This record gives sequence, structure tokens and C-alpha cells, in this order.
Amino acid sequence: METKIYGPGEADIEEAASIIMKGGVVAFPTETVYGLGADAFNEKAVKKVYEIKGRPNDNPMIVHLESVNQLMMVADEIPEVAYNLAEKYWPGPLTIVLKKNPMISKTATAKLKTVAVRVPNNNIARKLIELSSPLAAPSANISGSPSPTREKHVVDELGGKIDAIIKGGDVSVGIESTVLDLTTEPYILLRPGKITFEELQDFLGKGKVIKKEEAKKVAVKSPGLKYKHYSPKAKIHIVKKGELERFIEKSKFTSEVIVIAPKGVLEMEIVRKNFTYQGLDELAKNIFSWFRKVDSMGVKTIIFEEVEEKGLGSAIMDRVNKAAGQK
Ligand code: TXA
Ligand code: MG
Repeated sequence: METKIYGPGEADIEEAASIIMKGGVVAFPTETVYGLGADAFNEKAVKKVYEIKGRPNDNPMIVHLESVNQLMMVADEIPEVAYNLAEKYWPGPLTIVLKKNPMISKTATAKLKTVAVRVPNNNIARKLIELSSPLAAPSANISGSPSPTREKHVVDELGGKIDAIIKGGDVSVGIESTVLDLTTEPYILLRPGKITFEELQDFLGKGKVIKKEEAKKVAVKSPGLKYKHYSPKAKIHIVKKGELERFIEKSKFTSEVIVIAPKGVLEMEIVRKNFTYQGLDELAKNIFSWFRKVDSMGVKTIIFEEVEEKGLGSAIMDRVNKAAGQK
């Protein structure tokens, strides 16, 4: 299949929108990761997305809106708190789970009674939706590989398999949106992200929101979470802060390793190439890209220095633990 490659201009987005309206599948940038979108009301188009990604069909998709005004098209019995969160965080990397509107594709919501929705903070994405329809869109990668954060990731992995790709440069956040379930009380943070648990707790009130680890029966609530995600081929060793050098010495690796750690902590000679960052925002923005890079270099071992499990650090550790095959 020929994959059309578009830029951020209005005429290009119009063409991409017409592809969506004809039941096609289009990759587009968001602020978190690239998404692979289909018209959320077109059952056949949504099925194609599952097929292309090799995504298990019990893993529901997020529906992307142009603005909060579209919420009623996709959700039902919308509580006040949804509008409060929308006003504070949309457009932005917060996904909320609500009771679904029956018009939405059953496939997109994996036959659940709920729907996950967000308004992305990216002009290309919102224009595309405005000119077409709310978009059911998972991350634009083959299931199991790291989420795509640069246009090249999408072109390399999905070129020839989808109708079109809109290039929008590197994403700004780098890890997927925070997912918050509003259909039970207390609300459940199903997936940590750039909008942190601590922030949500401040906004909603203490005790109003709990982490998924604290909630029982989450496996039933968010089927997608049981799958292993974001895995590079390389094996990831997670090492405690300050124990990097000792770990490397002790392990006596015979082949090349790549270390991911804050700038300045690496001095030993054994490490030739490595990835360093200043601050958690920079780490979040690059982590998936670095996983891909390590694989493309053929390196088999990643050593990751743990970050503190709070704020954005919780979201990063969630992704790294999953990538390492833990949890
Ligand atoms: O930042 C993001 O969220 C990106 C961009 C493209 O928006 N999208 C993304 O989609 O990460 P995906 O499909 O990779 O992850 C969606 C997550 C999955 O963990 C899924 O199980 C959960 O959202 N989810 C979707 N619908 C749900 C629902 N009705 N109830 C509970 N969880 C749901
Ligand atoms: Mg994904």
C-alpha cells in the first residue's frame, strides 16, 4: 500500500481528513506520542487499526476530540468533575474514562460500557479532528514496541501499512497521557503520565483519587494494562540510584552496554555510548526513542538508573518497569 506523507499545512490536513472520512487510517502527531487514528464512529475503519497494530481486541482505544464541545458525541451521563478537569487540563495529556455514548464504535471501546477520551494539545491533531471526526487512536506503533515519539519512528514502522502519515516533528511530552477513570469513586488513576497523581490529588481533593495499585479489580477495568508494552529487544537492568558503577563492575558484561542516567553520574570507562539527561522532562521526552536507538545499534543490554517514584518519575518508572518485563 502507498502511504501518503503529509506536512502540517492546512491543505495537507484537509486531504488527511478526507481519508479518515472515507474509512482510512492516518497517523498524526500529538503532544504525548504519535497516534494512529480512525473515525470513532466507523466500525470497519476502527477494526483496521487493530489489525495493523496487531493489537488484542480486548484493549480499548482512546477517542480524541477537537474540544470539550464534542464530549457529548462520545460520552453519556457526563459528571461535573469531567468538565472541571477538561477546563483545567484540556487540551493536554489527560485522558478521562466516562460512560460511553452508544454511537461510538463497539470495537474502539472493546465492548466496554465506558469510553476513554482526551483533547490533544497539538494543532495538527485538533485540526484533523475538526475537519473529520472524533478519532479512535492508539499509539502509532506495532503492538509491543515502544510508542513513537518522532516522525521517523512512524514512517519506519508503519510506512506502507497505513493510508497516510502527517509529520509533525518530535513530540513534546514523550510518554502517553495520564488515564483517569471517573466512572467509580474514588476515581482511579489507571495510567500515570505527565499530569501527575499528586497534581490530580491537589485538584480533586485528597482521597478522591487513588492509584491503580490501591484499587482492586483493575484488571477488569482497564484490560489493556495487562499486556506487556514498550519493550525494546535489549534487556533492561534497573539499578538503584548511586549503585551504577558497582553494578557494572559486579556484572562483568562482556558485550556492549548502554546506560541511561542523569548527566554527570557516569565516569567509568566501560561505558562508551550512553544516554544522559537533565531533569525528568528530558528523560520522558527521549526514553522511547532511546529504547529504539539501542535496538537499532544492536546493543543487547540497557542499564537504567532508577528515578524517584513521584510526580513524573512515577510515570517514567511505570513505562520502564513494563519495558523491563516487570509488574
Ligand atoms: O497519549 C496517549 O494517550 C496516546 C496518544 C496517541 O493520545 N495514546 C495511547 O493509546 O497511548 P494506547 O491505545 O496506547 O493506550 C490507551 C490506554 C490503554 O491502556 C487502554 O487500556 C486504556 O487507555 N483505555 C482505553 N479505553 C479505556 C476504557 N474505556 N477504560 C479503561 N481504560 C481504557
Ligand atoms: Mg500504546
